[in-house]
Amino acid sequence: MVNAKIIGLGGYVPEKIYDNAYMESIVDTSDEWITRRTGVKERHISADNEYTTDMAAIAAKRALENAGVSAEEIELIILATVTPDYFTPSCACVVQNSIGAVNAAAFDINAACSSFVTGLTIAKQFIASETYKKILVVCADTLSKATDYNDRATCVLFGDAAGAAVVAATDEPGIIATEIGADGTGCKSITQLAYRDDEEEVEKRVSHDKKSIWMAGQAVMKFAVKAMADSTLRVVEKAGLTMDDIALVVPHQANYRIVESAIKRMGITDDKIYLTLEKYGNTSASCIPVALSEAAAAGRIKKGDKIVLVGFGGGLTWGALVMQW
Ligand code: ACO
Repeated sequence: MVNAKIIGLGGYVPEKIYDNAYMESIVDTSDEWITRRTGVKERHISADNEYTTDMAAIAAKRALENAGVSAEEIELIILATVTPDYFTPSCACVVQNSIGAVNAAAFDINAACSSFVTGLTIAKQFIASETYKKILVVCADTLSKATDYNDRATCVLFGDAAGAAVVAATDEPGIIATEIGADGTGCKSITQLAYRDDEEEVEKRVSHDKKSIWMAGQAVMKFAVKAMADSTLRVVEKAGLTMDDIALVVPHQANYRIVESAIKRMGITDDKIYLTLEKYGNTSASCIPVALSEAAAAGRIKKGDKIVLVGFGGGLTWGALVMQW
């Protein structure tokens, strides 16, 4: 049996920072409210001329270097974003060109913040079917370019980042079990508009604009806690393990209160969680690869450790997987 394993990781966050004092200066909020209700202290914000594919290419190059793999060896690029530079070409094709992955097929996916787990799940299938041996999964978003900075309920949450993983065929244990899911009945809980004329959606936005993200915060929170905890417990069972076997859980970093409630429901303590929420906020699908990359660099993961990655997001979607490091 061919297994799929992450052999290299890379992350990137832009230089500019919006801290809570800055957020206080642009909307009616306070450091105290943001910290208590979300856990976020700072978010990194892309420069005006810095776009999703620019950040994605940096994270991709860092992951290749970390894996000791050349761009030419990559056979497929799966790129996840909800803030693409263009609808076509795909961001994956732009990144293929900028990193010189001349032998790679390339396409974008959109499972919102569940996309890293979704991308790894797709990569695992291509590897198990022996179609490809080396795949790059990249997540990148410039959420700041889709944020309504007049809407205090969303603008304090979001930041920009990119994260990437090289997934390779191996006979060692790697990704053991996965689950992805969707609940389209919640499709209007988080929205970003495209071509469809939808006046109701425009009206809901504080700035009545067409470019910003809108979210039903409390409904998403309720969904998130249950989806993250229950999919984790199912996927751990599917792997033939219990939560006691899990060394670290790297969750989507949307709100500390969501993580806190989810880990209670999973029956674990917070020393088994890796968080970057305080310094980066919610950076969509790149939250998990950026956090995983930092956890690995910080020595929080040892060879042989069993790890859970779990996310949720727009769609509504969720995804969880167990892998052996
Ligand atoms: N500062 C001060 N007050 C605020 C702020 C703010 N930044 N934001 C909202 N409030 C106010 C509201 O206006 C409301 O005031 P009111 O009672 O006078 O009407 C009050 O705080 C409570 O509002 P709630 O919406 O009930 O606050 P809640 O505790 O639910 O927190 C939040 C809001 C942070 C958005 C939360 O619901 C949340 O995190 N939801 C999930 C978001 C999420 O996970 N998104 C992920 C998917 S999207 C993506 O990943 C790209």
